[in-house]
Amino acid sequence: MVQINPSILSADFARLADEAQRVGGPEGADWLHVDVMDNHFVPNLTLGVPVVESLRKATDTPLDCHLMIEDPDRWAPQYVEAGAGSVTFHVEAATAPVRLAREIRAKGARASMALRPATPIEPYEDLLPELDMLLVMTVEPGFGGQAFLDVMLPKIRRTRQLIDKHGLQLWLQVDGGVSASTIERCAEAGADVFVAGSAVYGADDPAAAVRALRERAEKVRGAAGGGCSH
Ligand code: DX5
Ligand code: ZN
Repeated sequence: MVQINPSILSADFARLADEAQRVGGPEGADWLHVDVMDNHFVPNLTLGVPVVESLRKATDTPLDCHLMIEDPDRWAPQYVEAGAGSVTFHVEAATAPVRLAREIRAKGARASMALRPATPIEPYEDLLPELDMLLVMTVEPGFGGQAFLDVMLPKIRRTRQLIDKHGLQLWLQVDGGVSASTIERCAEAGADVFVAGSAVYGADDPAAAVRALRERAEKVRGAAGGGCSH
């Protein structure tokens, strides 16, 4: 199944409730992607637990929190308590990724692990059963509106092969530079969850942009999902 997760990093932070609703509803966003940055793991600062708590009350769309922060072992569980349905930590920042993934799951959210562009997937093959989603970054994390890194396509493909080899259900998310002109390449390589910030919130009609992205990805992967062989 194809899922489209608009990133509110490209939304108007003074009007987050409205911005969340603009992409919600039937055929709208599957998840709202919430980028948490701490000015240490990445050179940018966004929002934290209190904003996630407020957003949770402002929308019915589940929250997909992407933590670009140091010491996620300490902070990630708080995002589950704040109401995130999925919490993604960066493996480069985590001290004990297995313990952390188990804690996120035990608290009731989907556990997800992210890889920066230079981080390979292969050392983490044995961790995959501990995860509900794997995020392959397709830009250096930190900012919206950057150009898609085509050089990540082989890693997406290899990650899909590992997921299939182990017969796992985990989702494969891509984040960074995903747009109408790049989403098909990501879908073809095996991604099934697509984060889009500027391509959604930079459009005149963000809801229409979500529908258009979904259509392109589904055409590649097959509307029923899983129709693509790799
Ligand atoms: C970047 C963030 C992304 C960002 C993507 O570090 O993790 O979620 O919002 O923005 P676009 O889609 O504009 O590249
Ligand atoms: Zn993100």
